[in-house]
Amino acid sequence: MEYQHILVNVENGIATLTLNREKALNAINQAMMTELGQFFRHDALQLKGLKGVIVTGSGTKAFAAGADIKEFSGLEGDGGGKLSQRGHDVFNAIERFQMPVIAAVQGWALGAGCELAMACHLRIASDTSKMGLPEATLGLIPGYGGTQRLAQLVGKGRALEMLMTTTPIDAQKALAWGLVNKVVAPTDLMTEAIALMNVIISKSAPLALAKIAQCVTDVYTEGVNGFESEVREFNNLCQTADFREGSAAFVEKRKANFKGE
Ligand code: CAA
Repeated sequence: MEYQHILVNVENGIATLTLNREKALNAINQAMMTELGQFFRHDALQLKGLKGVIVTGSGTKAFAAGADIKEFSGLEGDGGGKLSQRGHDVFNAIERFQMPVIAAVQGWALGAGCELAMACHLRIASDTSKMGLPEATLGLIPGYGGTQRLAQLVGKGRALEMLMTTTPIDAQKALAWGLVNKVVAPTDLMTEAIALMNVIISKSAPLALAKIAQCVTDVYTEGVNGFESEVREFNNLCQTADFREGSAAFVEKRKANFKGE
C-alpha cells in the first residue's frame, strides 16, 4: 500500500488513517480522494485481522479544511458533477464500511472535512475543534453528501442554520447538536478514539457490526426499506457461527470468542 496523501498505521487490529497534507490543512484534493477510495474499497479488506479504522488529520490545526479549493479552477462543463459523484462514491463506501470507522477530529473540520467526519460511523472531537460547511461563501453547496448527512445528524433546522450562515460551530455545540459523539482534551483525542474503538470491537461481533452500519444507513437510503433490511440481516446473522457463539457464551457466563464467521 503506497500512498502520497494519507498515512496508514495498523496496530492491534486498528488502522489509523491520517490525512497527510498538513501545510494545506489536510485539504482533500482529488489524489487524496482516490487514495481514500483505494483504502476503504480495496486495501483495508486485504489487511488480515483488521477490526476498525480511525480517521484523523495530521498536525493540530485541522482534521481537514475542505476539498482543495485550488483544484476548483479547472472545473468546467459537468466536471463539478463528476467531482461530486466521485466524492459521494468514496464517502458512501466509508459509511457502509463493514468495520467501525471513527473520526478523531482536531481543529478545523470544514466543508469536505466535515463531510468526511460525518460519513464515519462515530465522531470524537477535541475541545478546540470547529466544524462547519462554508461552501456557500464560495458560491457552492457541499458536494460530498454534506447537505444530507448534516440534516440527518443535527436535524433540518440546525442544518439550514449551519449551511446558510456558514458559521462553524465549536465542539461543545457540535456535541449538544449530535454532530459529534464525544468531546475530549486535544491530548486525549487519539487515546479516547482507540478506547472507544476497543469497547466496540471487544464486545460486538464483527458481522453484527457490519449489518448495523448497513441497516442504520438504509434508514436514509432512497428506495430501500430499512425495516426489510433488518428482517433479512437478522435472519442472515441467525445462521452465523458468531451468533451461536455469542448466545452460548451468554448462557455459559463467559466472554464470547467471535471469529467473524
Ligand atoms: N483548499 C486548499 N487549500 C487550503 C484549504 C482548502 N480548502 N484550506 C486551507 N488551505 C491552505 C491555504 O491556502 C494555506 O496555504 P498557503 O500557505 O499555501 O497559502 C494553508 O492551507 C493554511 O491556510 P490559511 O493560511 O488560510 O490558515 P488560517 O489559519 O488563516 O485559516 C481556515 C484557516 C479558516 C480553515 C482557512 O484556511 C479556510 O477558510 N479554508 C477554507 C475552508 C473552506 O472554505 N472549506 C470548504 C471547501 S469547498 C468544499 O469542501 C466543497 C465540497 O464539499 C466538495
